[in-house]
Amino acid sequence: MTAYIDFARLGGIIPKTITLQPRIGNPPPRTIETAAGLLNSIGLDNDGLEKFTEKHVDYLLGLNTAIIANIAGKNVAEFTMMASRLNAFPDLAGLELNISCPNVSGGVDFGTNPEMTAAVVRAVRSACDLPVVAKLTPNVTNPVEIAQAAAEAGADAVSLINTLQGMAIDWRKRKPILGNVLGGLSGPAIKPVALRIVYQVAKAVNIPIIGVGGIANIDDVMEFLVAGASAVQIGTANFYNPGLAKQLVDQIDAIVVEQGYEHYSKIVGSIHR
Ligand SMILES: Cc1cc2nc3c(=O)[nH]c(=O)nc-3n(C[C@H](O)[C@H](O)[C@H](O)COP(=O)(O)O)c2cc1C
Repeated sequence: MTAYIDFARLGGIIPKTITLQPRIGNPPPRTIETAAGLLNSIGLDNDGLEKFTEKHVDYLLGLNTAIIANIAGKNVAEFTMMASRLNAFPDLAGLELNISCPNVSGGVDFGTNPEMTAAVVRAVRSACDLPVVAKLTPNVTNPVEIAQAAAEAGADAVSLINTLQGMAIDWRKRKPILGNVLGGLSGPAIKPVALRIVYQVAKAVNIPIIGVGGIANIDDVMEFLVAGASAVQIGTANFYNPGLAKQLVDQIDAIVVEQGYEHYSKIVGSIHR
């Protein structure tokens, strides 16, 4: 993306989730575009923590923007181990905990349970000095209680939301399309769900919220801010417009002036006032 974006203009970058061991990810096909959203099941394909600390982190930290590492462990001990290793990189802007990946079986889905969420956050909090962001799943009945558990356990912020679990079927073959059968839905289709969760969580917790889910233009960004997000992330839209983040940063300055504010933070959570 260096060809499209001056990274210094961004708040930061959150690279792909790292796991303790390298993972080859799920069998292909790993993505399928549906009528209203992207369905993916990458399965946390990554080089593992060792390679990240030896190789990738230096490159990333040289990009002239904040880097928030994103980690996923199979259990609390793995999360703790990874957090304490990454604590050796104080130039990281934070650690985002992926406790919400719908595409990996066997323990990664801590974020469906408040006690498990609290246990991971508490352990990571005490293992490292970096700001800790819990990334939560929409695939629960009550995301507010999960966010509250994360906040009480010491999370500095929450990211809302990861993908919604879904599937695509090739009916003529009588088969699922994704190699992993189930996947995570993202893109504009999920924005109303993400906005709803940001809105609900903003009413109930005091830590900052990073809004994510379906953002594709400046109005989407503003909706998340008004609902209570202090920052936003862009995922899927990067695939078809890798310059989008920069365009939005340029546009937000103009909107803040147009609205008569000195700083965008005045707009954050304004629906609740
Ligand atoms: C292809 C793809 C890969 C993703 N990989 C990760 C990941 O490794 N870790 C993670 O926390 N979220 C991952 N996500 C979820 C996104 O970060 C984001 O939470 C979600 O897609 C909703 O935002 P969007 O609609 O802007 O994409 C992935 C999403 C997509 C589409």
